[in-house]
Amino acid sequence: MNDLVQLTKENGIAVITINNPPVNALSPGVPQGISEALDQIAQDASSKAVVLIGGGRTFIAGADIKEFGKMTSGKPRGEGLLPFLLKIEDSKKPVIVAIHGTAFGGGLEVAMACHYRVAVSSAQVGQPEVKLGIIPGAAGTQRLPRLAGVAKAVEMCTTGNPVKAADALQFGIVDRIIEGDLLPGAIAFAREAATKPAPKTRERNDKLGNATENAPIFSAARETVAKKQRGLLAPVAAIKAIEAATILPFTEGCQVEQKLFTECLFSDQSKALIHVFFSEREVGKIPDVPKETPLLPVKSAAVVGAGTMGGGIAMVLANAGIPVLLKDADQLALDRGLATIQSNYANSAKRGRFTPQEAEERFKRITPTLSYDDFSKADLVIEAVFEGMALKKEVFKELDRVCKPGSILASNTSTLDIDEIASATSRPTYIIGTHFFSPANVMRLLEIVRGKATSREVIATCMQLSKTLGKIGVLVGNCRGFVGNRMFGPYRREAQFLVEEGASVVAIDKALSDFGMALGPLATGDLAGLDVGWRIRKEYRHLEKPGIRQPFVEDNLCELGRFGQKTGAGWYQYDEQRRAMPDPVVDDLIRKWVTVAGIPQREISAAEIVDRCLYALVNEGARILEEGYALRASDIDIIYLNGYGFPAYRGGPMWYADTVGLKQVYARISEFHRQHGEIWQPAPLLARLAEQGKTFAQLGKEEGAAV
Ligand code: 3HC
Ligand code: NAI
Repeated sequence: MNDLVQLTKENGIAVITINNPPVNALSPGVPQGISEALDQIAQDASSKAVVLIGGGRTFIAGADIKEFGKMTSGKPRGEGLLPFLLKIEDSKKPVIVAIHGTAFGGGLEVAMACHYRVAVSSAQVGQPEVKLGIIPGAAGTQRLPRLAGVAKAVEMCTTGNPVKAADALQFGIVDRIIEGDLLPGAIAFAREAATKPAPKTRERNDKLGNATENAPIFSAARETVAKKQRGLLAPVAAIKAIEAATILPFTEGCQVEQKLFTECLFSDQSKALIHVFFSEREVGKIPDVPKETPLLPVKSAAVVGAGTMGGGIAMVLANAGIPVLLKDADQLALDRGLATIQSNYANSAKRGRFTPQEAEERFKRITPTLSYDDFSKADLVIEAVFEGMALKKEVFKELDRVCKPGSILASNTSTLDIDEIASATSRPTYIIGTHFFSPANVMRLLEIVRGKATSREVIATCMQLSKTLGKIGVLVGNCRGFVGNRMFGPYRREAQFLVEEGASVVAIDKALSDFGMALGPLATGDLAGLDVGWRIRKEYRHLEKPGIRQPFVEDNLCELGRFGQKTGAGWYQYDEQRRAMPDPVVDDLIRKWVTVAGIPQREISAAEIVDRCLYALVNEGARILEEGYALRASDIDIIYLNGYGFPAYRGGPMWYADTVGLKQVYARISEFHRQHGEIWQPAPLLARLAEQGKTFAQLGKEEGAAV
């Protein structure tokens, strides 16, 4: 046996313990260790049954995801896990698996090959492979329907969502919930089981149903997947594999699963989703803010401004159990803000997200106020007043005066300079940007903006806070628009130029929606409100370089009062339910305006629309990386996946560019540069990587960066 697996004996029961921290993944050596332990137990007449358990915080959380990259880059695959699982299932002595933490993916597949499963009530089981763009690859699609029934197996394998122990018991995935300590409970169970014949999951067919019962399950699942997981290959493959379980003998079903698993594993989608898995874990690692950095307490908070963002941010804090003062300057605005919060909570309770009592408790954590009186108690203040430097500075000057030393003062600004805001205070080390996305209580992204004086403790505290709030915090530097919006500018600019050059509004949004974006760029403008950008552009018009082309259609629409969804019309017209409909009036107006402007019209393909918009994102992303405003290309990807509806199966804009090949991306951008002038100047970093045959992903690992 090896270091990863230990064999002991208690009361005539052999105990195999897996110790492969942090999550007991099935890394090379783990299956071998278990297999050798089973060989020894088979020779030991005094062991009547076997308990298989995980050491540390969890049972096996799945196959080792790092191994997948090695497999797809040419390492021979070996025999896989199937023979190992057959060996467990064919053990003459019953094997009882004892589950705590998570039995995910390969972990659940191991558990299902055992003869019995017991679990503590906090345990979870699941087949999350689909979230990595693959399907269960060790007979999960064949054993799960045999244990839990076809409908449950389809649900688990297509959504990837975990199932709590109580549900797992109800569906027959586990046989008993152990109250109290797991190991003694599992040993007691094993002593009972030792006297009975050991059931083999693969030989059970009673829950597999028949064709008439199963057909509607599969067709409903295909419909749901097409709607909710648009463009994803793995959920479709998972359904196919489970279908095979219902019509083929076990061994042949496993062959179908293997074929589909391999196809998925080698797909670009899986590579992208695995990139996302590791990027989400990398994003919290900041080179000069080590894990040991002391955290400041955040036990109470205050929000200034009870508008769209302030109200949402107050809800996010209250949802995390943090009492929060919500201040506005205006009684009407405060009342309106509070009423919106109350109705949001009522809707969530109605939809069953939490009970009416929980909704009430959350609401009560928010205390409305018109004064700064109690601000001295707050550990953290987040400012969300109107966007304007003079006003922000005034508010921060006041906050500096009323707040206790050591409290963090954060701004939710989406465009303004954090250092200039900090200059209005006597405590620049405690000033930081916390840029939430709208609606703040829904969107997962939180850009954390580091000013030049922001202390490490304040950064570490805000990164930790993002987790407490259920957000994904990404540290970014202090530049105009930070990372997300700075890149979004060129992306939406290109969409508008394409309209001016002859593409229809619908064609542009369709091309990007077909690419996988949650919403096309023009419809996104309508959703956010076209007037926001219009006002900003008016304020900053003096900074525009003369002779550089600027889009004009959106400004013209705003002049006509077409601000988007909120006014019932923008690029599209909207009905009462805010459903978008193409608007011939807009098409006519655009043709009139472009004729006056003398812009030649031409046919524009969907491929050009996608390249123009996406490469505008990529080129700006490359500049941001080079200038050090993002730590890693993967951080930019995380921003786009969580704040801008970029499809996860494409990995984010920078990963997508790597997938296309930077040489090709650079060549296309150079072509746009020749056609459209200075705004398409290729980013020097992109030019260098293209020339060296490298990727953005390699850059993070080799060079490191500074925010
Ligand atoms: N393989 C390799 N590394 C893994 C891993 C896995 N399956 N699961 C987690 N890790 C690593 C993480 O990358 C992280 O590493 P780091 O500390 O160096 O950043 C560390 O373990 C801890 O992970 P988390 O930060 O995610 O810890 P949490 O406690 O928040 O969550 C968890 C634990 C719920 C187990 C979560 O890590 C998780 O969901 N893991 C993935 C589970 C999964 O997808 N399993 C299926 C794998 S595919 C498979 O099994 C195929 C099979 O069908 C053949
Ligand atoms: P909003 O107009 O909905 O709300 C602003 C609120 O601040 C109003 O209720 C107003 O009465 C109040 N206010 C103004 N001056 C005040 C003062 N001196 N003291 C207390 N309250 C005051 O604005 P919104 O959209 O919530 O934006 C707030 C901030 O969040 C801005 O900086 C904006 O750039 C940023 N932001 C906005 C996003 C959005 O999608 N709306 C997204 C991300 C950031």
